[in-house]
Amino acid sequence: MTQVSPGRQATSLFQERFGSGPAVLVSAPGRVNLLGEHTDYNGGPVLPVALERRTVVAAGHADRWRAISTLDEMMREVSPERMEHGSWIAYLVGVMRVLGRKGLNPRGASVTVASSVPIGAGLSSSAALTVALARALTGLAGRKTPPEVLIDVAWEAEHDEVGVACGRMDQTVAALARPGHALLFETGSGGITHVPYDGKIWLFQTGVSHRLTGGQLNLRRKECEVALGLCREQGITVHALAEIGMEELPRLVRALPVPWSQRLRHIVTETDRTRRAARALAAGDSAQLGRLLVEGHESLRLDYQSSCAEADFLVEAAVRHGAWGARLTGAGWGGAVLALLPPEKEARIVAEVQEEFRRQFGRMPEVWATRAGGGVRSEK
Ligand code: GLA
Repeated sequence: MTQVSPGRQATSLFQERFGSGPAVLVSAPGRVNLLGEHTDYNGGPVLPVALERRTVVAAGHADRWRAISTLDEMMREVSPERMEHGSWIAYLVGVMRVLGRKGLNPRGASVTVASSVPIGAGLSSSAALTVALARALTGLAGRKTPPEVLIDVAWEAEHDEVGVACGRMDQTVAALARPGHALLFETGSGGITHVPYDGKIWLFQTGVSHRLTGGQLNLRRKECEVALGLCREQGITVHALAEIGMEELPRLVRALPVPWSQRLRHIVTETDRTRRAARALAAGDSAQLGRLLVEGHESLRLDYQSSCAEADFLVEAAVRHGAWGARLTGAGWGGAVLALLPPEKEARIVAEVQEEFRRQFGRMPEVWATRAGGGVRSEK
């Protein structure tokens, strides 16, 4: 079966429902985070890669706001006064509100959306949508908006309007990624380094959907704030947990009660692992990178307590069958496991892991691969 690209889908839906072609067509990618989980709201580094799978927004001039997605093909009247939680429209309303505050909104717009980024799979379908919307709508208003502004708009839409206590990793990679590169983003300093990476990344979807508005991420973020306060009571003077060095860790872990000592240990060790992973990536050391992924997964499972049985199973099976490494990616509590596989073994490993998963959980997990894609762009 040949897949119709989301660009074609968004354009033909637009023509069908609004009677003419769109004025702007923009796409932005989902992402897979190689390493650096939950560090972005703790001042630490992250190492995401943009997916080749993208979300496309088609938009045209209008006096009012109407939007439709290929998901359900339902035309909706949209207003910045009416937040619609639990639907993709929430992200549109969020972006409209933020653009309105910044004076960047068009008067109205006709919008269609199509995407090949799986939803609820920890692959940041939401930032792909908000970044593409921010670029499409400012384009419609006749403005050329720099990526830094798109990141701010998309982040404020999700954080302040939709209400997810996210960091800035997803919006940043959706806006700034370069094809053939991972992006090392030091969230404390704002430093960005594009690290060449031409390997394949395999994604094993657990099939357990986690919607971030569900609250676990918000709860972890609060726990990290409490942990920071407790560290300060121990005489540590830092602005963020990720600034705490590995050498301080044993004393602090002894001093803090659970679960705060565990959250602290995850953030400090993950910060160290992510920087080492960026060096392994630059050196082309897949075996070392793989080991760091597995350590990262163990830290999520035991210390951050954000994994799930399906993800633990996939990581263990992939490594046992010969993966360099694997780990849960994204916020967690479901979503997808990424795996780095030696090319000569990849077909066998995928088949064996899928079959074992089917025997254990009674269904086949979706598995696919990507290389590093590029950030937000206009489509022809
Ligand atoms: C979600 C958030 C990100 C980041 C990850 C966990 O994807 O949107 O900002 O915190 O979870 O690493």
